[in-house]
Amino acid sequence: MAKLITVCGATGGVGGSVARRMLKEGWSVRAITRNTESPAAKALIEAGAELASANYDDVASLERVFKDTQAVFGITNIFEYLLEKSPEDAAEREKQQLVNIATAAQNIPTLEHLVLHSLPAGEKLAGKGNFVPHMDGKDQAVDIIKETLPSVAKKTTFLWIGFFTSNFYNHPMSKPVEVPNTNGSRVFIQPIPPSLHIYYAGDVEHNAGIFVNAILKNPAVSLPAKYAFLYTSQGSMQQYLQAWIDVTRRRTTFVTVSLDEYEQIWGPYGKEIGSMLKAFEPINDWTKPYQPDVIAAKDLGIAEDELVDLKAALEINKALL
Ligand SMILES: NC(=O)c1ccc[n+]([C@@H]2O[C@H](COP(=O)([O-])OP(=O)(O)OC[C@H]3O[C@@H](n4cnc5c(N)ncnc54)[C@H](OP(=O)(O)O)[C@@H]3O)[C@@H](O)[C@H]2O)c1
Repeated sequence: MAKLITVCGATGGVGGSVARRMLKEGWSVRAITRNTESPAAKALIEAGAELASANYDDVASLERVFKDTQAVFGITNIFEYLLEKSPEDAAEREKQQLVNIATAAQNIPTLEHLVLHSLPAGEKLAGKGNFVPHMDGKDQAVDIIKETLPSVAKKTTFLWIGFFTSNFYNHPMSKPVEVPNTNGSRVFIQPIPPSLHIYYAGDVEHNAGIFVNAILKNPAVSLPAKYAFLYTSQGSMQQYLQAWIDVTRRRTTFVTVSLDEYEQIWGPYGKEIGSMLKAFEPINDWTKPYQPDVIAAKDLGIAEDELVDLKAALEINKALL
């Protein structure tokens, strides 16, 4: 009988990639959503998944949908409620949602493997005072799970992901902006110098499923409680932009502004993303505070050509740029 994976966030970009890949790999997939009527939910049924409804804020609903499952994938999205109260309140809520997923998973006797999306904390990368709500809340959840839910922690892999290439077309702050009256010149405005070192995750909608499948296939490498870091290559923010310039052939200048100016332009979302970029400034190697527990594609036996890197991802999605 096929093994069953319950994929939370299956109607989204990352979870959707996991659901599609695991179906291809011959698993049964139970896709979790709050809205079983959405077009994304209906597409999952057509792809062969079973749909079930649960909410990360409600442990009992999660426990119900995790019944009889061998694997669970979970990814949260703080940006949905970042501004409902304060970003710090949102971080608390996202932390609790991740702990809720692990708490529900702990009560499932058939569970072999939980894969939970997380990120390195700003305060661990750059020191106290660098709390980045969408990073630190997730990382605090990991520490809570490790400390208070050891029986599930030993079956859990924490998935980190580098910069999505889709930010170039999905997120206004990461999009070069056309300057009027210049014959098409663009500016890429960021609160950090172009030399900032980052990790590129390429085409995440393709890569995430391949990566999670490899995590599940290699428990001896990915457990217990390892951080599996999905990135395809690394380099500077200027190189990230250069790939976009090479593909679009648009004249584009990198412009550095202060964090305050970035917040002035983009409001609270600017503060959130700007604080994240600032937290990367003092440290090129994000894995350093987490070693020896970080693994990457090579450790999981993923060949380089299985993942779609930055430039190839831009070529595939050229119409969106
Ligand atoms: N952009 C980047 O470069 C980057 C890099 C690294 C990490 N990330 C992280 O990626 C994550 C977002 O992933 P994504 O792009 O896949 O998000 P997405 O496309 O917005 O999908 C979010 C998914 O989560 C589900 N969901 C959200 N809240 C839920 C709740 N309360 N209960 C049940 N399901 C819920 C949604 O399901 P329904 O709406 O169907 O219920 C949806 O399937 C964020 O945590 C972000 O920090 C982003």
